[in-house]
Parts: sequence; structure tokens; C-alpha cells
Amino acid sequence: MSRNEFSRRRFLRDGAVASAVAWTAPAALSAAARPSNADFLEVGLPKSELLTPALCVDLDALEANIDTMQSTVSANGIGVRPHTKTHKCPAIAKMQMARGAVGICTAKLTEVEVMFEHGLDKILLTTANVSPAKIRRAMILRKWCDGFTQAVDTEENARDLDAAAGEAGVIADIVVDVDPGGHRTGVPPGEPAVALAQLVDRLANLRLRGMLCYDGGAQHISGFAARRTQAIERMAPAAETFSRMRQSGLNVEIFSGGGTGTYNIDHETPGFTDVQGGSYVFLDAQYLAIGGEDDDNTYNDFEPSLTILTTVLNAQYEGRATTDAGAKSCTINQPWSIVIGETGMSYTSGSDEFGTIRYENPSRIYQTGDRLELIVSHCDPVVNLYDKMYATRKDRVEAVWQIAGRGKNQ
Ligand SMILES: Cc1ncc(COP(=O)(O)O)c(C=O)c1O
Repeated sequence: MSRNEFSRRRFLRDGAVASAVAWTAPAALSAAARPSNADFLEVGLPKSELLTPALCVDLDALEANIDTMQSTVSANGIGVRPHTKTHKCPAIAKMQMARGAVGICTAKLTEVEVMFEHGLDKILLTTANVSPAKIRRAMILRKWCDGFTQAVDTEENARDLDAAAGEAGVIADIVVDVDPGGHRTGVPPGEPAVALAQLVDRLANLRLRGMLCYDGGAQHISGFAARRTQAIERMAPAAETFSRMRQSGLNVEIFSGGGTGTYNIDHETPGFTDVQGGSYVFLDAQYLAIGGEDDDNTYNDFEPSLTILTTVLNAQYEGRATTDAGAKSCTINQPWSIVIGETGMSYTSGSDEFGTIRYENPSRIYQTGDRLELIVSHCDPVVNLYDKMYATRKDRVEAVWQIAGRGKNQ
């Protein structure tokens, strides 16, 4: 048994002991009436027989997207450290690792725990842990997971992490989170970031690994040329900071950042090591609209692989129909979901349980029971609404994947 496998088992066992709560089924619920895991019954079904709304991922498109990202970053001399906040699905994280990723990222501590429980162990948590309870829990995880690295963006937080690591008897791996200018998270670039890195380097229970700088504001800039110019310009202070860290003799093996919109631009930032792309695995309506290098109107570097199957519930009123996929299945993010195969049709999901389609010249007359397939509006929050996704090929279910990180928002 490898050390990581041993650690994972100990982590799971200790976690189970710590949270042991006796659970007994209510006497009235007979064994026969208890719900069973029926996922295996759905493997092999055609998509047309799935209950709706159903979240589906097309395997051919998903694999092509992972390969496009991997081959592009490799050709550009950098790596990819996929952000699993998008899919929250260990099966997809394992595909990304198997196809060459240098590790994975997560946004939340509980996502790290889930990914580790499912066998992933090179995990960069891109959000700082600031509360004492979270910091303690992060250090328990660090005890078992050698490849766990966490972000820090203030000196106070670095000192708190150092104290907690000392108490737990671990050395915690750290990257300094540098602000690209959006002021969401991160320490300002330049002197404040270099000073923070030097402090991390000095603290006895922390080990500096480098820095991260994620420029969310650059990802959806419309038009490739504008996106490229602005992304490089906005990352210049971070590049300068990274170079100063390196020149001052610090261990800076990681300079992580970027995403789906800048994956083929990020290597132009000096020192940059890996792209934290998330949405590229699925793409979505928001990303389709930004335009790519060879098409100003549609971002076609990646294929929309994630769809929602929905059923028409009511079609008796002219020019409109009601479906079973509303806000609880599609979110209320905009642009709204796109109905595949229809151009003159709008889909809105403002109502909790129902979607509304309006149309003038549909390709066919819709009737109750008909099915539609939607490209999702914004993939991350949509995935977080479902327990499982159907991995399909040629419209048949090949696997049912648990979205194990679903709801893991702490
Ligand atoms: C820190 C960080 N890195 C990477 C990503 C992935 O970005 P994208 O989905 O645009 O590829 C995100 C998304 O919000 C993020 O917050």
C-alpha cells in the first residue's frame, strides 16, 4: 500500500470516528421500502429514457476538451492544474490527471477533503482559510495528504497557519495569492507580496511553494485580440513580483493562474507555470459568447459538453411551452440556457420548477412529453445543483458519475 493510500485510509477512518453518529433506520421503513442506489440501472440506457431534468456530459466532447487544453499548454511549455470547482466530480478530476495535469485546484476546504477521499492527492486550495476552525481542519488534512498546498494573502493569516501547523506537527505547503487588480482576494503585487513570501519562508512550520494569481476579470473579455492584450498587461505586475521572489532566492516553483479564456495566452507571462482552467471541460453559454482566435462570435476552442435534458410539460398555448427545468435545474444565471438545434427560441428559467420557452418559428411543433436539450448558462453553479451526471456517448449512458463535491461549499 502506498503512503498516500495508507494516509487516505487513516484520514477516512479518523474522520469517521470523529463524526460517528449512530444512525438507525426508522422501524417503519422496511428494508424493501428503503431507497437503493439505482445508478447501475441507468447505465446503458439511451438518453431518451432518463428521468428529467437530467445533467448529461458528452464523453467525446469532454475528452476532446481535456486533450485540447493539455496539448495546447504542453506545446506552450507550461502545465494545467485544472480547477475542480467547475465539475466537483472525482471521476473527471482523475481523467484530467491521467491525461497529464500537474495537479488539481479546489475553491473550498471541503472540496479538498472530497477529492482526497476519492484518491486525488496533488491539490492546491486557491482560497485562504481564515477562521481558526478551518485552519485546524486544514492542518488535519495536511497530516494525511502530502500534496496539499494552500493559499495565503495576509501576514496575520500566515502566522495563524504557522501556529496551527506547529500544533498539528506538520509543515504546511503554501502559495502566496497575489491580487491581479480586481481586489477580490490576494495581497497587492510588488513589495507587499514579496514581503509575505519572505515571511512564509521564514516561518518554521510553513514551506513556500510559489504564488498564484487568478485574473477572473480577463477571462470573459470579448474578442481574442483584446483579451490577449489586456490579460498580458494585467498580469505584468504579478510577473514582476514572481521575478523578484525568485531573485531574492525564495523557492518559487509554482506560478499558477489563468483560466479557460486565457489558456492560450498565459504562457506569454514570464515565469508562469500552470493554467488553473475550470470551465473548459464543459464550456457554457457565458464562454461561448466571448469569441476565440479564429471566430470572433463564438468561442469554439472547446465544445459545449454539459447539457440539461428537459421535458415539455405544457404546449397548449401558442408561441410558448413550459418545461420541467427551472431555476432549481438551470440557475438564473445569464445568458440563459441555449436550446440545442433551435435558433428562434428563447429559454428562461426564472421560475423555480419550470422553464419557459417562447418561439416564433420552431423547427417543429412541440408537444407535451417532447424533450429538449440545453447548453447550460454557467456551468459551475449548475453542476452544484445535481447529485450525479450522466456520462454519455452517442446518446447512450456509459457511466453515472457522483458529483461528490456537490454542496461542499465550506
Ligand atoms: C482561483 C480560480 N482559478 C481558476 C478558475 C477557473 O476559471 P475558468 O472557469 O474561467 O477556467 C476560477 C474560476 O472562477 C478561480 O476562481
